[in-house]
Amino acid sequence: MTDRLATIEAGGRVLRLAFDGIEARFHAIWLRDNALDPETRDPGNGQRLITLADLPEGLTLARADWQADGLHVTFAPEGKTVTFPADWLAAHVYDQPQDRTPGRLPAFVQAWTAETGQGAPLADFANLRDDRAALRDWLAGVRRYGFGRVSGLATDPGTLFGIVDLFGYVRETNYGRHFEVRTEVNPVNLAYTGLGLQAHTDNPYRDPVPTLQVLACLENSAEGGENMVVDGFAAALRLRDEDPEGFACLCRHPARFSYSGSSGVRLTSRRPMIELSPDGELVAIRFNSRSAAPLVDVPFDEMETCYAAYRRLSAIIDDPAMEVTFKLAPGEAFLVDNTRVLHARKGYSGAGSRWLQGCYADKDGLLSTLAALEADT
Ligand code: FE2
Repeated sequence: MTDRLATIEAGGRVLRLAFDGIEARFHAIWLRDNALDPETRDPGNGQRLITLADLPEGLTLARADWQADGLHVTFAPEGKTVTFPADWLAAHVYDQPQDRTPGRLPAFVQAWTAETGQGAPLADFANLRDDRAALRDWLAGVRRYGFGRVSGLATDPGTLFGIVDLFGYVRETNYGRHFEVRTEVNPVNLAYTGLGLQAHTDNPYRDPVPTLQVLACLENSAEGGENMVVDGFAAALRLRDEDPEGFACLCRHPARFSYSGSSGVRLTSRRPMIELSPDGELVAIRFNSRSAAPLVDVPFDEMETCYAAYRRLSAIIDDPAMEVTFKLAPGEAFLVDNTRVLHARKGYSGAGSRWLQGCYADKDGLLSTLAALEADT
């Protein structure tokens, strides 16, 4: 392979490659740890069969050359030779500029407002159940928008589980396998009254939070009671653009959330309102004024900066330009990524009836099902 180069550098600790228009370096320890041979990786399930303790300290590259089936690398002192296909190496290059902008989003995620949120997916339940391509497209839309709607459901109690069955499993909590959302005389939670609620993420007092919420409508003849969703990522990015220091303050310090509204339950968490990954990707939003506990992990000198940012974030969330509003009819449901999209309900009157059922589920299962469907097509 005359157009492919492999040069050992740094005393055998680094390999410089040029192939298929790519120039990149790889470390000897990285290559050895990620070797694809059947003694290192199980050929069946792909799981690694060794730990770093199985590898000699100070291992180096003894030889590296391109052959027809890929890069052949021999490690010293093991004397072990393994092969790396060129396309595998190309897919795992790390010696390149990496975007570390605070608050950046993955390519498959799109922040939205009232206008652009109308693109969130809506599908008929029977279609999702019977057509894998339709399910794939709907799940991909949920991954993009953090929000999706379903129509054509039965109006029987428990109908919401059919949505979860499409991709994963219900997450049971102290509220049960599911919860009823309708007016109660002595509610244990404000969600069960006819009051309007500010947009919020559910259960920030859990760690981890429920990552998905499904709400299905069985009856809705009451006045008002529209549902509303707000993209927490879009709200956080708007705060970042308006007030970078305030944004950084809410990312940098943990908030606290608590719930003790039921006998025998004392849930608490200590997590930031805006969570970034260590390299700056926007990971999660936790926002719920009802269950916010006193902020005590913010340095005295930063408390007012944090409060100003918290107030501004709250105002952005309340801005009608950020919200998508819809009224669920019986047989309709919506699903939100509860680590991202806030939901709310307008107030409704006691006349008529409004009966929703909700449950939680796990986003990793949804993303796994989506990835498997995408791999099949
Ligand atoms: Fe809620």
